Parts: sequence; C-alpha cells; structure tokens
Amino acid sequence: MIFRQLFERETSTYTYLLAARPGGKAVLIDPVHGFEDMYVQLLGQLGVAPGWAIDTHTHADHITALGELRDRTGCQTVMGETSQASCVDRHVRDGEVLDCDGLSLTAWFTPGHTDESFTFLLPDRVFTGDLLLYRGTGRTDFQSGDARKSWRSIQRLFALPDATLVYAGHDYKGWTVSTIGEEKRFNPRLAGRTEDEYVAIMAALNLPRPAQMDVAVPANLACGQVRSP
Ligand SMILES: [Fe+2]
Repeated sequence: MIFRQLFERETSTYTYLLAARPGGKAVLIDPVHGFEDMYVQLLGQLGVAPGWAIDTHTHADHITALGELRDRTGCQTVMGETSQASCVDRHVRDGEVLDCDGLSLTAWFTPGHTDESFTFLLPDRVFTGDLLLYRGTGRTDFQSGDARKSWRSIQRLFALPDATLVYAGHDYKGWTVSTIGEEKRFNPRLAGRTEDEYVAIMAALNLPRPAQMDVAVPANLACGQVRSP
C-alpha cells in the first residue's frame, strides 16, 4: 500500500494519501486548500491517479481542497451522509464500504466533535478526523459538537483491536501516529475516566474560536469554494 501523511503547519492539519498500488487510484483524506499543486505533483510522482477526496467533517479551522481537486482532476468528493455540504458527489452512510480501487475504506458515523463527523477505517488503521486525537480529543463546543456523543463514538473506536493504528486530523505537539491500545491506556481525557468526567473535562476547556471559522465553515459547505463578498 502507498501511504503518505502530509502536514499543514498553519492549522496543524494532517492530510493522508492512500492507494492500494502504483498505477492505481488514490484517496486523499482531509486535503487543505492551497496545497492542491503539491497533492497533484505528489500523486504524479507516486504514479497514482486522483480517485477520491474525502473530508471527515466540515472543518472550522481551514478550507478544504475538495472542490478544487474535483474541478482540476475529476476525482470524486466524499463526505458522510449527515454533512450539509450539498456540493459533495457522494455521501456515505454508517457502515458503508467505499471500494477505492483495491482499498476498502469503511465509513463510520462518529458524531461528537461535530454532529456530522465520520471516521474511515482500513483493517489495520483508522482515520479519526477530529474525534480522537493523539493523547487528546477534538473540541465539542461548536458546530453542534456534543461531548457525550464524542465519548460514545470514541468507545466504539476503542472496541477495535489495540494494535489498530490511529491517524488523526490534527496534532499541535508533534505526534504523528498512535494506536487504539495506547489511547485507551494513556489518553489523559479518556483513560480511567467515566463518561461524566469526560463531559466535565470538555466543558472546562474554554478554547478560543478558530481564527478562520467564519470563513472556513461556509466555504467548506461549498467544498472550499471561497466566495468574495
Ligand atoms: Fe474539526
């Protein structure tokens, strides 16, 4: 399998590139607007074609590259069925398997960070978006986020084998990968906690609003097409 993890420094966002084989079609998960040239160049260098561009959820902190990638490459854009982004080509349901040219990506509806967040799974790894982060979890204080739903969605992930690799949508401290077993044992918001304790922790975070939120959310509902006022 071809696998790349790309990092966008402004908003500490990870984008993932996956393909079953050279010569096949690739999947990009959570691509960032402004990096389309780099993605297209890298796909060419790796000898894979653009197949699918997936957003795990409607991002509040950066603008998605879904629309521009679709317009430039003809790839198919994908989000979960609860997304309000009507520009997306395909909305996947909970449990649906996306057949991506030899890669079978299973979609799970995992609300909590937002009410429309999805997680995408391969047999050995899981792309958690902003639900489960490395030793942390995605905030639940806007976009209809809900700490109880976040807890329950994370418990669903925690039923996966401990060795399952975790690839998150962001990291702010330098982490690049984890496992389900590690996060069960060492995530300070989750390990040894009850659901009520987790809800209290999330309620006390008092995080600032993302700087780009008022621009990013409406743009992302249009697959990243930024409209001038
Ligand atoms: Fe997010």
